[in-house]
Amino acid sequence: MSNASRILPLELRAVTFETERHRLIKEMSFQLAAEGRTIILGSNGAGKSLLLRLCHGLIRPSQGEIIWQGAAGRDPKHFQAMVFQRPVMLRRSAAANIHFPLSIRGIPRSSRRHVIEEALRLVGLGRFSRTPAHLLSIGEQQRLALARAWALKPQILFLDEPTANLDPAATHVIEEVIAEMDRAGTKIVMTTHDLGQARRLADEIMFIHRGRLLEKAPAAAFFDCPQNDMARSFLRGELLWWQRRELTP
Ligand SMILES: Nc1ncnc2c1ncn2[C@@H]1O[C@H](COP(=O)(O)OP(=O)(O)OP(=O)(O)O)[C@@H](O)[C@H]1O
Ligand SMILES: [Mg+2]
Repeated sequence: MSNASRILPLELRAVTFETERHRLIKEMSFQLAAEGRTIILGSNGAGKSLLLRLCHGLIRPSQGEIIWQGAAGRDPKHFQAMVFQRPVMLRRSAAANIHFPLSIRGIPRSSRRHVIEEALRLVGLGRFSRTPAHLLSIGEQQRLALARAWALKPQILFLDEPTANLDPAATHVIEEVIAEMDRAGTKIVMTTHDLGQARRLADEIMFIHRGRLLEKAPAAAFFDCPQNDMARSFLRGELLWWQRRELTP
């Protein structure tokens, strides 16, 4: 993928998201480069899923800006895909669930079948092609959601805990698919609770806590020597969501 055609880098400028009662994402400013796998870490309720939704354009910031620096007038939503923490499936076959977004994106009819077969095979679901997607197990649905995203060949893929419901073998397959997409030039932005997985996959870590970005660092530096106190407690398994408010910066 040439740099000229990329919608990345992605820049957030003082992005805040609030409801009537709560500020859930607080003045986040950062840039995501076109290269490298970015993993977002943080406790339950930290704001990881919300941040992905903001970046993907599913919700709008209350304040601040989200800028696709390479978009050059193009609509960024055509170049992105997201795999949700809870997979959302159409009540159609596994194959049809991949076919639908391909047709919406205008992928030529002649190549769709091949792409669908390849995508299902990639995640080990080849034999479920005709099975209604809602009958698949949660782990299988999560793999189907990844196949659906892969088929779109997005420039950037947001993955919200894509292996949360998977057994070790399926997790391994998904990590391979993610690595493959990275090699093919897709920017990976992913949340996980699995620190082993974060170490295996991340080039860069973003650590968020109570809606704030507290650290963004190359993965090796983050795991060797996190700069932020909260990040240190998180890595030691000591950061609890009910921790007293006055401890947070
Ligand atoms: N639409 C909403 N209205 C009110 N509160 C919300 C809304 N969406 C999310 N929240 C709250 O915002 C906080 C962040 O939610 P989010 O789903 O981003 O957390 P998370 O970091 O992804 O957590 P988990 O690890 O459990 O998936 C949570 O406290 C959640 O209850
Ligand atoms: Mg979440």
